[in-house]
Amino acid sequence: MRVVIQDNYEKMSLWAAHYIADKINNHKENRPFVLGLPTGSSPIGVYKELIRMNKAGEVSFKNVVTFNMDEYIGLPHEHDQSYWYFMHDNFFDHIEIPAENINILNGMTDDPEKECARYEKKIAFYGGIDLFMGGIGVDGHLAFNEPFTSLSSRTGVRVLTTDTRIVNARFFGNDPEKVPAKALSVGIGTVTDSKEVLVLISGHNKARALAATVEGGVSQKWTCSALQMHNGAIIACDEAACGELTVDTYKYFLDIEKAERL
Ligand code: GLP
Repeated sequence: MRVVIQDNYEKMSLWAAHYIADKINNHKENRPFVLGLPTGSSPIGVYKELIRMNKAGEVSFKNVVTFNMDEYIGLPHEHDQSYWYFMHDNFFDHIEIPAENINILNGMTDDPEKECARYEKKIAFYGGIDLFMGGIGVDGHLAFNEPFTSLSSRTGVRVLTTDTRIVNARFFGNDPEKVPAKALSVGIGTVTDSKEVLVLISGHNKARALAATVEGGVSQKWTCSALQMHNGAIIACDEAACGELTVDTYKYFLDIEKAERL
């Protein structure tokens, strides 16, 4: 696992955006680059920089197919808290990407199982995901894979924990009851099947989750810890998120990254 520690959120975002753009630009295979994407506040800085780069001609999304991680059940596209709305508002509406290349789970489906099976099949159709970018919740959830979701789970229905509904209530008039109780989400297995996984972890409130991801044992209690078993996992984080790492862990990853640049 690589852990790339940047001074702050802005630098973390720039680092991650340029990493993704490089991967897209260096993609030589005769098929589209397949990119997994998250919502939330963590990726907004990355989306801003990728939009800037797209407008400046530094990266093109014409040959990129995207799959979003998750979607609330019961929110229509036009609801400003649906992840469909978020993704168009914060990213897709500002870049040149063919509409048919965008994939987001349909949280309004009347057959969630069929919808989730369709999603997994479509990912397979494109040859799997090249790079899955993610964020994590304060309880370490990756996509909506809450604590105790199987580390080999596939795309399916997830019940949100009370903790997550309280944390996400800030987007729903501070009322946890207004946060949908369920979501559709890719599984931990779906994410770890990707060639590379890049997870953004920023801020003091994520410090416990970062320590669990990097230093704790692999455990379904912290679903993000599954990344320890992935050969192409990168955590991009900021100093604020490092508060719960031991000093030797922190120094180790700084040394490794310094050596990478030599
Ligand atoms: C939600 C999403 C996750 C996201 C997490 C963290 O629960 N389902 O995919 O990673 O929130 O969000 P934020 O980046 O706003 O802290």
